Amino acid sequence: MTRSSVLELLQSDKILQEVTVNGWVRTFRSNRFIALNDGSTINNIQCVVDFEKTDEAIIKRITTGAAVSIKGTLVESQGKGQNVEIQVSEIQILGDSNPDEFPIQPKKHSLEFLRENAHLRVRTNTFSAVMRVRSALSFAVHKYFQENGFNYVNTPIITGSDAEGAGEMFGVSTFETNKAPVDENGNIDYKQDFFGKETNLTVSGQLEAETFAMALGKVYTFGPTFRAENSNTTRHLAEFWMIEPEVAFMDLDGNMDLAEDFIKSVLAYVLENCKDDLAFLDQRLTDEEKVKPQAERSEMTLLEKLRFITENNFKRVSYTEAIDILRNSKPNKKKKFQFPINEWGADLQSEHERFLVEKHFKCPVILFDYPATIKAFYMRLNEDGKTVRAMDVLFPGIGEIVGGSQREERLDVLKEKMAALDIDEKELWWYLDLRKYGTAVHSGFGLGFERLVQFATGMGNIRDVIPFPRSPQNAEF
Ligand code: 4AD
Ligand code: MG
Repeated sequence: MTRSSVLELLQSDKILQEVTVNGWVRTFRSNRFIALNDGSTINNIQCVVDFEKTDEAIIKRITTGAAVSIKGTLVESQGKGQNVEIQVSEIQILGDSNPDEFPIQPKKHSLEFLRENAHLRVRTNTFSAVMRVRSALSFAVHKYFQENGFNYVNTPIITGSDAEGAGEMFGVSTFETNKAPVDENGNIDYKQDFFGKETNLTVSGQLEAETFAMALGKVYTFGPTFRAENSNTTRHLAEFWMIEPEVAFMDLDGNMDLAEDFIKSVLAYVLENCKDDLAFLDQRLTDEEKVKPQAERSEMTLLEKLRFITENNFKRVSYTEAIDILRNSKPNKKKKFQFPINEWGADLQSEHERFLVEKHFKCPVILFDYPATIKAFYMRLNEDGKTVRAMDVLFPGIGEIVGGSQREERLDVLKEKMAALDIDEKELWWYLDLRKYGTAVHSGFGLGFERLVQFATGMGNIRDVIPFPRSPQNAEF
């Protein structure tokens, strides 16, 4: 007899048929009712054990966390809460779980406790739901791009360049700590290192993706990126996954259209395909909100927020307009911002982004045309000589979810900007080559995948939407 998944059984019409299912015991009540889960769905299947016919030694081993194989008859359930259940005819313990030691008890655990047990937390309803939604979202990402003529490109993880120019990189070296050879000036001599030059884990695949866009037209990356920024926040990870489309012959307006359409499409996909998990996460968030003070509670439930995104247009606002709004805003005048907004040119902090999205516009916002001084070197300079064709997509509860731009395609302007920022032309000779041979208008953006998963699942902390989070002082597992 072939084995079925719990999902198949709960949806099936195999009533009165013999079935086999494997899974882990979530709970065992009254020496009779097993709630069995195998990860195929958030829902458990109830398996009813006839304890008079079952060996007592076996009954004792049916404990929370144990792996079991069950054979039985699928029947309509008399009890509440499920349509079908299994009347067990044979149960085999595949792997015991000591109930006194297993950390995941059938009760509510704190997210902090579960983070310390990240190897087991996916056995809870919350984390299995989050991880299934994460998986569906990544499929939706590929589906969107593949159906829209994009080619998937795997940009390198080890690189010699700092794409964002922020210097927040993890070095990659085979030198032994404290034994690295030094040159005549006392600096580490990377010529003797594995790659013969200084290398690091990539902070973005953009620069390499641009080379592919200038040949394949429409490309995207979807891979791990690394940032050694010491930000202990609910929105930053040291290792996260980024999605970066890059498109030739597309300007900033096209870029905004693409970002908006893409985000709406992947959220619509999970709304359609993750109904049970989202219903669970929606209830979870509602319960969590209940204990918050009234003023901090969200006006919308998770499902309402997701539908709101898919059904409404994002508001497009220039940086200059945004600064005016912020400067004249109540929190700014009442000195409620940690970083007060005084003049044009100020970098926007998450408190400002969230004010614009959550309080002022009350919808996702795309800010564009930022001051050149606060953005990366590769962004296209506007005619005014002081702003660049940058865009950030800002989301409620999250702040920046996308950062992108139209790229500087003019060789002379790019060289000037690099010189001003002290970026060595020799390091990026290949990037400059793109501007020498068939240069063209092109644009792209980066979307932080975990921030998207956070939004889709309503989880407050980014560390709870990636299997094994890496953050300052934390690389367990
Ligand atoms: O705005 P960022 O730094 O943009 C770039 O890296 C560009 N090269 C992208 C491009 O144009 N191809 O990062 C893009 C996005 C952010 O908007 C944010 O969602 C996410 O990546 N991100 C992080 N997510 C989690 N943890 C961090 N430390 C993150 N840093 C950025
Ligand atoms: Mg950014």
